[in-house]
Amino acid sequence: MAEIAIIGGTGLTSLHNLQIVRREVVHTPYGEPSGPLVYGSISNKQVVFLPRHGPGHTIPPHKINYRANIYALQEVGVKQVIAVAAVGGIRADLTPGRLMIPDQMIDYTWGRSTTFFEDSLKQVVHIDFTEPYCNDLRLVLLKAGKQLGLNIAAQGVYAATQGPRLETTAEINRLERDGCDIVGMTGMPEAALARELGLCYASCSVVANMAAGRGDEALTMEQIERNLSVGMEDVRRLLEATIPLL
Ligand code: HPA
Repeated sequence: MAEIAIIGGTGLTSLHNLQIVRREVVHTPYGEPSGPLVYGSISNKQVVFLPRHGPGHTIPPHKINYRANIYALQEVGVKQVIAVAAVGGIRADLTPGRLMIPDQMIDYTWGRSTTFFEDSLKQVVHIDFTEPYCNDLRLVLLKAGKQLGLNIAAQGVYAATQGPRLETTAEINRLERDGCDIVGMTGMPEAALARELGLCYASCSVVANMAAGRGDEALTMEQIERNLSVGMEDVRRLLEATIPLL
């Protein structure tokens, strides 16, 4: 049984350092997850990997079945989730390739299924989400990053936007005024659903581009993917160093 899950995002639909043992198709009461769960080991420890956008990177952020993904992971015995996510950098020092372990978030998404607690309830449920990420797991990621000498941003606010389009400059200015440091499209409701099921969830965010209006590069998928390939190498090393510490 694997107690550690890695949810891969754009730029991480497969993990070279994962020694794959088997795949498992899991059906849930909330529908189908993004793909089969991929079991294997990293640094000799069992992990389960789930590419958030599907094995062929075909599911856009607003169409991901976040409930099925999180439910499936919990169903197979996962306790800790490292969620890798590509983001745009709003804060000037969050340049392409840099990693951040956010400690806060603001949710700007809409129209997504955001809770497991809505039907056939005995009582209304409100989870505590004061600290949206699991601090224990965040600290382990940061410790591993330090061991590797990576220049990881140790805290910051993640803005979850609806996508799939990128933002306007005015929208990014607004996010900055709101106190957001990075912007991505998949952080919510994933983190809240993990909390609802009692999973320890942390995000490893990788800056793919400067957010709209913040850099001189045109925001194209090709450019984003090129920038990501640098950051994802650090993510792979970070995962290898983090997993033995869990
Ligand atoms: N905005 C939102 N999501 C993103 C971005 C961005 O600039 N880059 C990668 N994911």
